[in-house]
Parts: sequence; structure tokens; C-alpha cells
Amino acid sequence: MKVTVSRIAHFNAAHKLYRSDWSDKKNEDFFGKCANANFHGHNYELIVSVTGDVDPETGYVMDLKKLKDLIKLEVEERFDHKNLNMDVIEFKKLMPSAENIAVVIYNILKKKIDQDLDLEITLYETPRNFVKYTGP
Ligand code: NI
Repeated sequence: MKVTVSRIAHFNAAHKLYRSDWSDKKNEDFFGKCANANFHGHNYELIVSVTGDVDPETGYVMDLKKLKDLIKLEVEERFDHKNLNMDVIEFKKLMPSAENIAVVIYNILKKKIDQDLDLEITLYETPRNFVKYTGP
């Protein structure tokens, strides 16, 4: 019996979507406000979902307190109030789009949870724009 448990988290971060091999005009046309040279912030909403068998002994798929602590340590402390392009090593050479942020968070958390559990990352960049990643 597979059940999905989820934890919602939040972080604020700045980014810029910009390719230095493109002209300013092309960056602005493609990335819009996200290409703003002096960066800008988003209030990211993160939903981390873990799917697995219910442990007959505890009734849990995963202890949500442990998931909460893991997200705080591995995601919020790395990303919250940071400039993703400049402060977060994973984005030194990777565009900090919502898509890539979701993949990076997945890769960080996947290593830290029981390998029998399936992980799904949902990341809202704005209240209306969100991405989802469930692994390769
Ligand atoms: Ni943006």
C-alpha cells in the first residue's frame, strides 16, 4: 500500500536568467523580467512529496518531522535569502530557472532519504507558475 506524504516549505531567493553568449536584447526578449541585470527575488513555495509503503509498525511512510528538518538543513539553509547565481555552487554554471532549481533540490534530497521511497519536487516560482520533477 503506497501512500504519499508531503511537506510544504518556503524560501526567498534572488536570481537572474541570462546567457552571456546572448545579446542583452535577446536575453530580455526571451527571459523578460527574469533577465533584469541587477537580479530580482521570488518567494519560492516548495512541496516535497515522498511516496512509499506504510510501515505496519509505525503507520508512517516517513517521519514528517525528519523531512521537515532535512528540508530546513539541505534546502532552506542553502537557498533562503541567497542570490542563487552567485551564492549557490550548483548554479555557478547552471541557469537558476524553476526547472533547474527543482532538479537540484531533488538531487540533494534523494541522497538523504530511504532509497525505497519515491520523491517528487513541486516548486512554485510565483503563485501561478510551478514546476514538478520526479526524477530521471
Ligand atoms: Ni525570475
